[in-house]
Amino acid sequence: MCGIIGYVGPRECKDLLLFGLERLEYRGYDSAGIALLEDDGLVYTRAVGNLQNLKRAAGDGGSRATTGLGHTRWATHGGVTEANAHPLAGDDPAEIAIVLNGIVENYRELRDRLREAGHVFASETDAETVTHLIEEHYAGDLVEATRAAFGELEGHFAFVVIHRDHPGLLVGARHQCPLVVGAGRGETFLASNASAFLKESREVYFPDDGDIVAITVEGVRFLRHDDGGEVERELVELDWDDECAEKAGFETFMLKEIFEQPEAVAETIGDRVRHGRLVLDGIGVDDAVLRDLRRIVILSAGTSYHAAVAGRYAIEEWARVPVEHDIASEWIYRNPVLDAATLVVGISQSGETRDTIEAMKLAREMGAHTVAITNMMGSQITREVDSVLYTRAGLEVSVAASKTFTAQLSLLFLVALKLAQVRETLPQEELRFILDEVYQLPHKLQTFLDGNHPIDEIAQRHFEKPFFLYLGRNIGLPVALEGALKLKEISYIPTEAYSAGEMKHGPIALLDENTPVVVVATDHKRVYDKIVSNIQEVRARGAHVIAIATDGNEDIQHHADDVIYIPRSPAFLQAVLAVVPLQLLAYRIARLRGLNVDQPRNLAKTVTVE
Ligand code: F6R
Repeated sequence: MCGIIGYVGPRECKDLLLFGLERLEYRGYDSAGIALLEDDGLVYTRAVGNLQNLKRAAGDGGSRATTGLGHTRWATHGGVTEANAHPLAGDDPAEIAIVLNGIVENYRELRDRLREAGHVFASETDAETVTHLIEEHYAGDLVEATRAAFGELEGHFAFVVIHRDHPGLLVGARHQCPLVVGAGRGETFLASNASAFLKESREVYFPDDGDIVAITVEGVRFLRHDDGGEVERELVELDWDDECAEKAGFETFMLKEIFEQPEAVAETIGDRVRHGRLVLDGIGVDDAVLRDLRRIVILSAGTSYHAAVAGRYAIEEWARVPVEHDIASEWIYRNPVLDAATLVVGISQSGETRDTIEAMKLAREMGAHTVAITNMMGSQITREVDSVLYTRAGLEVSVAASKTFTAQLSLLFLVALKLAQVRETLPQEELRFILDEVYQLPHKLQTFLDGNHPIDEIAQRHFEKPFFLYLGRNIGLPVALEGALKLKEISYIPTEAYSAGEMKHGPIALLDENTPVVVVATDHKRVYDKIVSNIQEVRARGAHVIAIATDGNEDIQHHADDVIYIPRSPAFLQAVLAVVPLQLLAYRIARLRGLNVDQPRNLAKTVTVE
């Protein structure tokens, strides 16, 4: 995810900005830049790669600017190039520049309108649209122009604007993306995360969603975006140390990343779904090829493999194309059968997993059209395939995957809906309904994360148990597989995950009154009754059932010992929600066992060996 830092005050700020960007490095980035308000105008410097490159480009000293802003970019719209790095300046000569985090969903419409009005775009980014839009509204008052532009934007974003004619002023705004004000003595900071300025100030304001924020040496003003009225925000003293600040106040990266899932999914869906319409570029073949596809093969490893299993259910159900999924390291050595009417999708969050890369190379050599789903621009897999679809989950530091998984699921659902659209396998109203529900997922994830759930009590009761069984059917199966992997890898408790219907063919022998059995029992009319029967089989052996169920399902309370409810959603989409309590359960158990959840033993984030 991108990082923002801005400064207004009496000090020369170039080094302060560069230091602030260093503090934001942990968020991951592929390019960076700063804009400084010098005596002779706005000077901005950008560079691809790490901050050393930016420092080299900016040179030593030479700046007297006391107003400036900086940005680390994690590419979403447009490749990793200097032209796409922020700050993004307006029309030449640059009077205005902005840095932005998040996604502007209606940027295409706005860009077309602004081009017609004579604005010249120099990048492929959605963010540049905001620069030109503010320019368009500007009539001497930067705060007013920002407020007017804000009213026209859709999406989720936070941005900060600097203007040549307004030394000592930065204007920021936020909509569903973080922005925090640091109040120093005679100086003010504006950043995406307090860690960027924590060394200078621990007194902060957290602007509300929809606030327009104007910072000057005198302090800060908050305005409502709709009527421009001034509002007060509370000054808070942070007691974070540096390590805590990096984790935005969370005790570990994994917990932070679990809580970042609404944002990761929102960014991944981004401008791809708008007002019930789907725009999914990146599969790399035209609609006629998608219409005639005879088969899809999905290859991956670990958590990404579980996303593939979920993808199969959705694609087969909605688009009626046969899907085969396989573990990449198995597929490659089984002399696979492929033809040109097969689409091969490789999923790898890191884009560097050797098993998946080798499998995709083989698929391409065999003449199939290959697509990668990855979170990492420029990663190796992107060079070995015909086309790429990006999840936009931001950097995942914790070894155990969480937000990249829910981002992969969301993107696979969009692929399934795209196929259904071109193959005309879903009625229009149903397609539109599901798309609207996909759009609601970040909000529902947030609702779940903000709610009270009995996860801590359940963890407390079972953290010393020697074995856990996970069960699911249909779309609940990949959720069970992923829940079991999470617990096993961070708590070192042996787990099994099984199709609930298959349990009676073997794993049932493992059950006794000491066994916690986690059952994904979300609403799915074809399998819900069956899963209840499976729960009864488990209870009859004295085992303890922890069910994940859909809000409003009271029936499940007669069958399970514990129930964790997730928000209602169409059957397949519930996978995105149902995995979150399983991530949290694994997390709490691992913490109770006193383990290092961010770096479990023997595991690596990127597995570059076969
Ligand atoms: C589990 C986990 C691993 C990875 C696997 C594939 O939490 O993170 O199982 O999912 O190593 O990694 P990618 O997706 O980078 O190919």
